[in-house]
Amino acid sequence: MATLKLLFFASHGGSNMQAIIDAIREGRLDARACAVISNNSGSGAIERAMNEGIPHFHISVKTHPNPRDLDEAIMDIIDRYRIDTICLAGYMKKLSPEIIRYVNGRVLNIHPALLPKFGGHEMYGIKVHEAVLASGETVSGASIHLVDEVYDHGKILAQREVPVMPGDTADTLATRVLEVEHVIYAETLQKIAMGEIVI
Ligand code: GRF
Repeated sequence: MATLKLLFFASHGGSNMQAIIDAIREGRLDARACAVISNNSGSGAIERAMNEGIPHFHISVKTHPNPRDLDEAIMDIIDRYRIDTICLAGYMKKLSPEIIRYVNGRVLNIHPALLPKFGGHEMYGIKVHEAVLASGETVSGASIHLVDEVYDHGKILAQREVPVMPGDTADTLATRVLEVEHVIYAETLQKIAMGEIVI
């Protein structure tokens, strides 16, 4: 059993990141939220990090136009906070293979559907839920997976189903899936901390 040292990457609201921080505070997750990186300086994730007193960094192609410099800035943060696990939580950029290797592949992501269905490049946000509804699926859900070089492709670590209800819109489905996301991300991390899931 080891206290996970987490680095978050988030581009927008950061509600999944917040759910993990809350789980740590409430003693449901043995981890430390060490730092937050966002490519969007005005993101809710940065605001949440400020409110929580968590070190936060704006790193993007604007701050680091050279990809090598960008990776080095991320690696500096990994070193500085002795990060052992990266959590992508609504991060709209791809991490380089170098960064993934730098943390021995310990990079997790959450996706608002039952992968491998409804994943891949351009399958994000409300588009995922629109695609689920258009396909006539009766069940959607959330997936936690390891990150590799292909979008939404790495090993699936956990999934939870969410039924599609008659009359659901993409927004109502997204809201119910998000509630489940907030539960399974922290639960999966705790299984990693406990050694029940080995990554
Ligand atoms: C979530 O639906 C997550 O599955 C996806 O992006 C969304 C992020 O939401 N990868 P939030 O920023 O955590 O509120």
